[in-house]
Amino acid sequence: MDVSSLQDRLDTQRFGHSMRLHERVESTNTEAANWARDGAPEGTVVVTEFQSAGRGRHGRSWSAAPGRNVMLSVVLRPELAPDELGRITIAAGVAVANTVDAFVAPHPVAIKWPNDIIIDGRKTCGMLLETSFGQSSGPAPEAVILGIGLNVNQTDFPPELEERATSMRLSIGRTLPRSAVLVQLLQELETWYDATLAGEPVHLTYEERLERRGEQVTLRFAGTDRTVSGTVRGITPSGALRLENASGEHVLHAGEVTSRPTHVEN
Ligand code: BTN
Repeated sequence: MDVSSLQDRLDTQRFGHSMRLHERVESTNTEAANWARDGAPEGTVVVTEFQSAGRGRHGRSWSAAPGRNVMLSVVLRPELAPDELGRITIAAGVAVANTVDAFVAPHPVAIKWPNDIIIDGRKTCGMLLETSFGQSSGPAPEAVILGIGLNVNQTDFPPELEERATSMRLSIGRTLPRSAVLVQLLQELETWYDATLAGEPVHLTYEERLERRGEQVTLRFAGTDRTVSGTVRGITPSGALRLENASGEHVLHAGEVTSRPTHVEN
């Protein structure tokens, strides 16, 4: 992959027009945040072949084999209040799911709330949204960094992930051109990001792929032992999970969908 041939193939208005491709960085989210602080425009993209300190959600790390995947961060500058940033999460979920689908169909591609991308029941992509408020005095963050780690051609995973992780290649049995995946991904991201900012009901498209919709699940609140169980009804327009149980409908903004319920807590 090289930047100018990637850019030649892009059919976007903004996404990817400013782009850096690294052999190795600690984290593309850190690189993109630094670049954003130096004035990077919306749609700026940082891609890397390897991360030595990739970050995952809930303070976890993210590791991926060098040269086999698509790892990137996009600088966004939405005029959205912090409690509306879930709109970006769901737009990104739809964009990545559509991209993966375009390459692995007819394998079903699902979104596990909030935005893990699942093929054949295993995770093939994780996303991490980070905000920086800088000196800005308004309610909207100065920049939002959307980090995406998409397992494209990786075939081996560490033992602790083996049961839960997969890649696009493992699902279809052949190697994919990563540059084509990246180009399609940037196009989908711009489309769905623009749609969500324009107030379009992106959550309805998301819900079509929502894993376990209509099923009983347990959601664990991040970093705690607290859980709530119920039936997944869908999501709100700003990306919160709607879970229904005997005490009514609950709108949940954070947490991890874990398993079938063992008990109900209100
Ligand atoms: C998760 O599922 O926990 C989110 C993983 C996000 C990983 C990506 S890889 C590119 C970007 N840079 C990072 O340090 N993290 C995100």
